[in-house]
Amino acid sequence: MKEHNVSAYSLEGKVVFFATRNFHKFNEARHVLAEFKIATAMLSVEAIEIQNDSIENIAKASATDAFKKTGLPLIVEDDGLFIEALNGFPGPYSSYVYKTLGTKGILKLMEKIEKRDASFHSVVAFCSPKLNPKTFHGEIGGEITTQERGDHGFGFDPIFKPSNNSYCKTFAEMNTQRKNKFSHRAKALRGFAKWYKSVW
Ligand code: IMP
Repeated sequence: MKEHNVSAYSLEGKVVFFATRNFHKFNEARHVLAEFKIATAMLSVEAIEIQNDSIENIAKASATDAFKKTGLPLIVEDDGLFIEALNGFPGPYSSYVYKTLGTKGILKLMEKIEKRDASFHSVVAFCSPKLNPKTFHGEIGGEITTQERGDHGFGFDPIFKPSNNSYCKTFAEMNTQRKNKFSHRAKALRGFAKWYKSVW
């Protein structure tokens, strides 16, 4: 299996395979990893997404599955939006909730709720022949807006406004570079990149 020659990629250490079918995630990731002089290759593989209470376990299971399918050392990334007034809902069920309720459904659920604090969490899981999946976590606090704002990004971006953001903008009102200054994904990826550069 020449195209899956793992040691060649490991020794090179300059290209990271990101198993995802979400181009927005890939685009954000490639900018972050470029800060560390790491190139990112998008690996369009359908990895299983288990139902679990922990996004860490979901990311680990997906990374293991994608690794089994491709034989390549790779990362996957899994996210959750945790809304305080809804006791952390949708959390690990964010993907399902996005597909069924969408951003409008979340706004409807939050209609009469004044306390709108929420956080976005990301787990990057790296899987290789040398070690069990290793994970990196990133988190950003913020709030759910009262209406959708902005055209950039994807998913819940139009209704999530990160805190520590003097621009008072939602993720969807930011370009990729600006979102990467704050985002859960960028934080998890920076943790991964620091570790990756130190050991690979
Ligand atoms: P997943 O882990 O990628 O499946 O993410 C769970 C859900 O959160 C999906 O519906 C995504 O569209 C959404 N999501 C993940 N990351 C982001 C983000 O950075 N901004 C907005 N929505 C996101």
